Amino acid sequence: FKNVKPFPKDFWWGASTSAFQFEGAYAEDGKGLSVADVKAIPEGTTDFKIASDHYHRYREDVALLAELGLKAYRFSIAWTRIFPNGNDPVPNEKGLQFYDHLINELIRHGIIPVVTLYHFDLPLALEKAYGGWRSRRIIDDFDRYCRTVFHHFGDRVKHWLTINEQNMMILYEVYLGDGRKRLPAKEKYDICHTMFLAQAKAVQSCHELVPGGKIGPAPNIVAVYPETSAPRDVLAAMDFDQLRNRLYLDVACLGAYPEALWQWFLDHQCAPAIEAGDMELLQNAKPDFIAFNYYGTTTVRYLPLDAEGPKFENEPEGPAKRRAFMTALSSAPGIAMGVKNQYVKETSLQMAIDPVGLHATLRQLWERYRLPLLITENGCGVPDTLENGKVNDDYRIEYLRAHIAECQVALHEGVRLLGYSPWSAMDLVSTYQGCTKRYGFVYVNRDEFDLKDLRRIKKKSFDWYRKVIATNGADL
Ligand code: BG6
Repeated sequence: FKNVKPFPKDFWWGASTSAFQFEGAYAEDGKGLSVADVKAIPEGTTDFKIASDHYHRYREDVALLAELGLKAYRFSIAWTRIFPNGNDPVPNEKGLQFYDHLINELIRHGIIPVVTLYHFDLPLALEKAYGGWRSRRIIDDFDRYCRTVFHHFGDRVKHWLTINEQNMMILYEVYLGDGRKRLPAKEKYDICHTMFLAQAKAVQSCHELVPGGKIGPAPNIVAVYPETSAPRDVLAAMDFDQLRNRLYLDVACLGAYPEALWQWFLDHQCAPAIEAGDMELLQNAKPDFIAFNYYGTTTVRYLPLDAEGPKFENEPEGPAKRRAFMTALSSAPGIAMGVKNQYVKETSLQMAIDPVGLHATLRQLWERYRLPLLITENGCGVPDTLENGKVNDDYRIEYLRAHIAECQVALHEGVRLLGYSPWSAMDLVSTYQGCTKRYGFVYVNRDEFDLKDLRRIKKKSFDWYRKVIATNGADL
């Protein structure tokens, strides 16, 4: 691109992690178990018990993030470190202390903390007590947890994210259900509505308790492409966009369900139960910005009501079944089914590489909602090789460079983008593909089951990203 305006001076060059994938110390210092700690993990992959051992190495880790030159660092607080059972009478002092130390260390290095309140790690005790998100009781428990952390950290943390990837939890049943069979649609959309209410309360509590506090939702948003220019496919892409993306942002930002989708819910007997006062709460809890995670676009084809969608039950266990399961989940009768896009390249682990799709997504979000945007995840998760103490991850550099270049053009075109915070700051455990699937700028020396010395080794992408930040994006 020629003559594109430079990145704004106050652009937040960031990087992201989440508590359960990065911290380890899963049962230390009073921490309670979360659903992630006991999740049935796919055979041949590690669990989250030690992860990258950040809990014990946060000082060294923050020093590395400072060396990288980060302006902002996005991480999550584990609800179970603050309230081990989700709703204990008093918070766990040691849990508060850990995040105090982490936040103070970040601030000492001039790094702005951006904190996710909920990143897939529901307290297991609440799942057992009343079914977790299946019960509206969780709204008050979540609010109490949020108010506690706003009150405790709000003097130093001004930027908050509510629920990470609510849409992935609902649509793809990530950390909901057992990940093998589908939840009934009505149950899913009741859960979804409960999450909206919990989020709305968090927005209100943040505004009430954090002086100058700003808060936003953090769904996974990607542009949806039609497979062909057949009018039915184009409409299918619009409809699938409502189901996958707009539902979450329309409710969060406009306080309303998209009409056509609501009708689809009614027609398919899966409309969530709305109680008196719900819609008022949603309308009176407006976020200050939209944070979103972007990996790659989705392409769909029209799926007629009576046509059979893709099946996964008969696939043998393993990656093929997982892929088929995901395709089945990105299908909705009368709306659309997910298909492969021949124009979009993929990583070695079949994740789409579509930087132009990020550009399109930024434009759509800005033009629809007119709220500042913050990219909170984007990245290249593949196995890396450590050779003679070095990781030459040119593929990651290429991936990130292309995405950052598109962000710059979107900014040039008037999109209000606050920052770019790729996944992940350092290597951590992937949600379902263990720790050989790496995303970080820093290699963590462990294998799937051999913990080795957990040493931190800067990858080639570390030096590259440091230069990008130092030149404020001028030298990509
Ligand atoms: C996002 C999540 O869905 O994608 C992260 O917010 C996750 O928690 C990331 O790690 C990458 O996905 P995966 O499955 O490769 O870890």
